[in-house]
Amino acid sequence: MENSITKLFNIKYPIIQAGMVWNSGWRLASAVSNAGGLGLIGAGSMYPDVLREHIQKCKKATQKPFGVNVPMLYPNIEEIMQIIVEEGVKIVFTSAGNPKTWTSFLKEKGITVVHVVSSVAFALKSELAGVDAVVAEGFEAGGHNGREETTTFTLIPMVKEKLKIPLIAAGGIATGRGMLAAMVLGADGVQIGSRFVASNESSAHINFKEKVVNTQDGDTLLTLKELAPVRLIKNKFFNELQDLYKQCPTAEQLKEKLGRSRAKKGMFEGDLDDGELEIGQIAGLIHEIKPAAEIVKEIVDEFNEAKKSFC
Ligand SMILES: Cc1cc2nc3c(=O)[nH]c(=O)nc-3n(C[C@H](O)[C@H](O)[C@H](O)COP(=O)(O)O)c2cc1C
Repeated sequence: MENSITKLFNIKYPIIQAGMVWNSGWRLASAVSNAGGLGLIGAGSMYPDVLREHIQKCKKATQKPFGVNVPMLYPNIEEIMQIIVEEGVKIVFTSAGNPKTWTSFLKEKGITVVHVVSSVAFALKSELAGVDAVVAEGFEAGGHNGREETTTFTLIPMVKEKLKIPLIAAGGIATGRGMLAAMVLGADGVQIGSRFVASNESSAHINFKEKVVNTQDGDTLLTLKELAPVRLIKNKFFNELQDLYKQCPTAEQLKEKLGRSRAKKGMFEGDLDDGELEIGQIAGLIHEIKPAAEIVKEIVDEFNEAKKSFC
């Protein structure tokens, strides 16, 4: 399955396990990398010293390439970038911010840089900033998302039409068939989040993993557009937010309702009522918690089978 993405990262399959707050530590990242994909440690939920520990453990757990995802909306970013350089991380996926801010710094250190976007304009801005590849993430995706609600099915061909560098599709992909569809639309690789939440190696609480397995179509919605839009499972906290929206709240009031550590409470501590439960629409197709290596193998096998039946 050699192509521009496998060559860029020196991996076997063009499958990237997304960086995900409270889900993707060294265990998941190294398991995916060992299985032939690219594992990403999600720095967004880690204090700098915790990130350093995860990078060091990941280096011990795999000889294969792995990377770190850095959402730029979180604090301590200077310290995080310094640790990435000191620990010799070779691949960084930046997200939730301006691609110009960190790309030259990282490129000067010899690091491969990928930026996550949800629009054609930001894909081109990333290319101009000098990134090596772009992740275009559609509205279906779990976690933080674009305000414009552009779906993966429409975003990928529109970005492909304009972009010259390699393109990775994200949002709503959990199977080999989904991967093939994304590649037919023009993607060179896929970034998969939700499917890997329900893996043995994800650091999510078992309550959250089981909730994901029982989630169906229509059970998630995008909310908090006034702060940072995020797709959540409808639970008690989500319903309380909906009630607050009826009173036309200010951003301050929404921030106050969100409070601190909601995502940790929901996904890491397993509080299914009062926590934030981030997952993508494709959760309706995720029925089992499995080892990450099995998930990668299933996706690859299904991709090859589906490709044969269409070509
Ligand atoms: C639980 C969860 C946490 C996420 N956290 C992050 C994050 O920290 N940084 C980031 O760039 N994207 C984050 N995302 C988005 C993923 O990186 C990825 O692009 C998305 O999950 C792809 O769509 P899918 O969920 O349909 O596979 C998160 C997604 C989920 C489901």
